[in-house]
Amino acid sequence: MHKIMTDLHQDHVNLAKLLTLLEQQADLLATGGDADLLLMTDIADYIRRYSDQIHHPKEDTIYEVFSARSSEAATVIAGVLLEHQDLPTITQAFQGLLDNVINDSAILSRQELQGKITAFIEAQKAHLNTEEAELFPLINSTLEAADWVAVEQSVEAHSDPLFGHQLMERYRNVHHLVMQQQA
Ligand SMILES: [Fe+2]
Repeated sequence: MHKIMTDLHQDHVNLAKLLTLLEQQADLLATGGDADLLLMTDIADYIRRYSDQIHHPKEDTIYEVFSARSSEAATVIAGVLLEHQDLPTITQAFQGLLDNVINDSAILSRQELQGKITAFIEAQKAHLNTEEAELFPLINSTLEAADWVAVEQSVEAHSDPLFGHQLMERYRNVHHLVMQQQA
């Protein structure tokens, strides 16, 4: 598997860990506890900053190169590309909602907040699962060395502010919880 695909797959594994943290927060609300709003807004911030702005554009480049090589899964790719357009709006709305709850400009019941968190998780999961199950295996078995050269020329190297070598201060708490999750 090409290094770019290994990295993108690892991004999905990392995102899944964050979605698990969000699930725990939704569960807390469901069982009468208090959710950690700051934690959730940090997770949304990372998804906006990394998944939406770095990870998805990289995939777009690969899907473009793949589409030029094969018409297989064209419908799936069209759908995923549309999701790449919609997901940043979904992430921003989720982060904005959490920010409003934090500064008291939005008042939601536990159940409403739980519903918003669950809907966000579902949208992210559905997207990630489609790519992992339907597209990545096909891309791995179709693209050849010359295709990857084309991809390499178009994608830029970016560091990951949460799972990369340099941890961004804002994500210290999320990082700590992810590490605990692994232990
Ligand atoms: Fe992805």
